[in-house]
Amino acid sequence: ATDVKHFPEGFLWGGAIAANQAEGAWNVDGKGMSVADVASYRPHLDIKDYVSQWHVGPEDIEKAMATDDVTYYPKRRGIDFYHRYREDIAMLAEMGFKSFRLSIAWTRIFPNGIEEEPNEAGLAYYENVFRCLREHGIEPLVTLSHYEMPLYLVNHYDGWTSREVIGMFVRFAKVCFERYRDLVTYWLTFNEIDSVFRHAFTTVGVVEEKYADKHEAEQAIYQALHHQFVASSLVTKLARRINPDFRIGCMVTKTLNYPETCNPEDVYLAQRENRTNMFYTDVQVLGEYPRHVLNYWRRNDIHVRFEPGDEEILKAYTVDFITFSYYMSMVQSVHAEQREKVGGNLVTGVRNPYLETSDWGWQIDPEGLKIGMIDLYDRYHKPVWVVESGIGAYDTVNEDGSIDDDYRIDYFRRHFKAVAEAIDEGVECMGYLTWACIDIISASTSQMSKRYGFIYVDEDDLGNGTLERRRKKSFDWYRRVIETNGESL
Ligand code: BG6
Repeated sequence: ATDVKHFPEGFLWGGAIAANQAEGAWNVDGKGMSVADVASYRPHLDIKDYVSQWHVGPEDIEKAMATDDVTYYPKRRGIDFYHRYREDIAMLAEMGFKSFRLSIAWTRIFPNGIEEEPNEAGLAYYENVFRCLREHGIEPLVTLSHYEMPLYLVNHYDGWTSREVIGMFVRFAKVCFERYRDLVTYWLTFNEIDSVFRHAFTTVGVVEEKYADKHEAEQAIYQALHHQFVASSLVTKLARRINPDFRIGCMVTKTLNYPETCNPEDVYLAQRENRTNMFYTDVQVLGEYPRHVLNYWRRNDIHVRFEPGDEEILKAYTVDFITFSYYMSMVQSVHAEQREKVGGNLVTGVRNPYLETSDWGWQIDPEGLKIGMIDLYDRYHKPVWVVESGIGAYDTVNEDGSIDDDYRIDYFRRHFKAVAEAIDEGVECMGYLTWACIDIISASTSQMSKRYGFIYVDEDDLGNGTLERRRKKSFDWYRRVIETNGESL
């Protein structure tokens, strides 16, 4: 690696969280239940069973709806950001944050998704949060949908498979755009829109058991995804009308795949996976389905209903910038069956002997971040923004209360440098938001012990603890990075 460490002026340093993993307060002030409120604690998620263990079936939903337990449904309690946001945002400001990414829980605004009128308490809450950010000079980046759809829509509409859900989402977005017109400029429609096939329940509210077989379920997921694409474009159209200064981005999981060897078959496998990953940005940035996806549907007898005008909508309302999460890279091999596997973000691949892994077995690859950014920028020629990247680790609190998370500092130092190198290679990069700047409940396993923050939260997996916030060693390190715009790296 070279020694480039220059970041452009105005680079948006900061961090990110999602409502459902941080707020808690799952049933107060009129909030309805969302898919996150039925996500149970799964500390032993094994990469071999990623998909099946993450899976949520009708019986899981029923069981969850019958209880108000917050111990085994940890996202219901979060870290109580709902009541502590002022204190938390003040700490982010202390680190010098330029930007903070958070999501709006749809169910605080429309508890079941179907209401005609929004819930004022929910609207007022986010207004206060955004005002607080502004007072600290922090630019909000707001995700409209981060694994938080109303559970009601899952139970009564089969999630996003129903065309009506588009209208409900557009109504939700409209209310937010109008209310926060002068408080928020940067918006994202769907978090990791590419993750539909990894966890259909959480993303598009598809309960796979409801379908006759795997083929039917796959078709339903594609249909739901198509509706999200259309919704995203309609929301973009609306945003431009409500405030021409709004900037709308898409958000994908950047999964970079390397071939295990120079065997052309390995190379092709990796290319195929990378193309699949870029299918989603192809639609949202270029405005049309790539031919390989249409061919795949044809070959596999998958029928996705398009309404007249859908194609035009997708083409007309593409995004202004591309955001992505990045946690690791993957290796593809024609001999995958015989190889040791690693995983992360509910994706699995062959182990890469050149890389170390996190406490959770996710492969650490800063160079891959640079490669991924160059790939994205060269393909789309749109500004990119890293809006999630970080390391989930076990942190230890020393006797004096300090937390020496040198591994986190090392992780970010290498990743920040990789971004500087990508910028030097010509990539336009708007900023870097770390995941998660404060410890929150893990998305996949609902663990608290999988910590990502610069700020430690005194809470264990079962919800014991004072919720007190503490600055980790990385807190001061990041403050210095921001203060010097990366020159201190
Ligand atoms: C991303 C999600 O997939 O990965 C986040 O957008 C999530 O919500 C993050 O928290 C890390 O995953 P996990 O399972 O370690 O929390």
